[in-house]
Amino acid sequence: MTQDELKEMVAKAALDYIPKDGILGVGSGSTVVKFIEAIARYKVKVDAAVSSSNKTTELLKGIGVRVLDPNECEPYGCYIDGADEVNPAFEMIKGGGACLTREKILASMAEKFICIVDKSKLVEQLGRFPLPVEVIPMAIGQVSRTLTALGARPVLRAGCITDNGCNILDCHDFMIPDAGKTEDLINAIPGVVTVGLFAHRKANVVLYATEEGVQTRSW
Ligand code: A5P
Repeated sequence: MTQDELKEMVAKAALDYIPKDGILGVGSGSTVVKFIEAIARYKVKVDAAVSSSNKTTELLKGIGVRVLDPNECEPYGCYIDGADEVNPAFEMIKGGGACLTREKILASMAEKFICIVDKSKLVEQLGRFPLPVEVIPMAIGQVSRTLTALGARPVLRAGCITDNGCNILDCHDFMIPDAGKTEDLINAIPGVVTVGLFAHRKANVVLYATEEGVQTRSW
């Protein structure tokens, strides 16, 4: 089975988590694209959504889903999104698609975070995937120096401007034994918009696709 087929499988399984009424939070990335395609294919009703990227907004509107401004919403039930890595504590690295800040905002508003991944994303310790950090352009130099002092090897993501008009530094060679502490440390650097560590707001449910089917873990 290809990674694409695994993503399709988990995207379809996530349809069961769409609330009958009320707002759905929708993340970004290739697994989420398949989730949005599945909503359309299986004609699942979505009352309204909040979206974590311009691309997701465009796709949702394209299938007829009403997309709301999060400022006009109260906290809501369910946020569905992919991840780049997930550890056994359900902490995640996200931001491979450069949408980490909006993803974190929507996740913080949701009662439940449903993470949809294929089994290749499950890791014992976070950090093999380069950790994305969204940075205000004028702070790239200083944030890079501080990340280096923390032990990372930050690399500016070429040609990438986020939906917020900022840049991404990807932290290579940076294993993360304590995700909560690292999230706090990096978020405290002046000029950092968000680090792509989701430790304080981790997933509530992880759906992961394997050749044998979709497995569910929750706490
Ligand atoms: C987008 O910024 C990310 O957080 C995605 O959720 C993450 O990169 C997973 O993407 P894929 O579903 O494309 O693997």
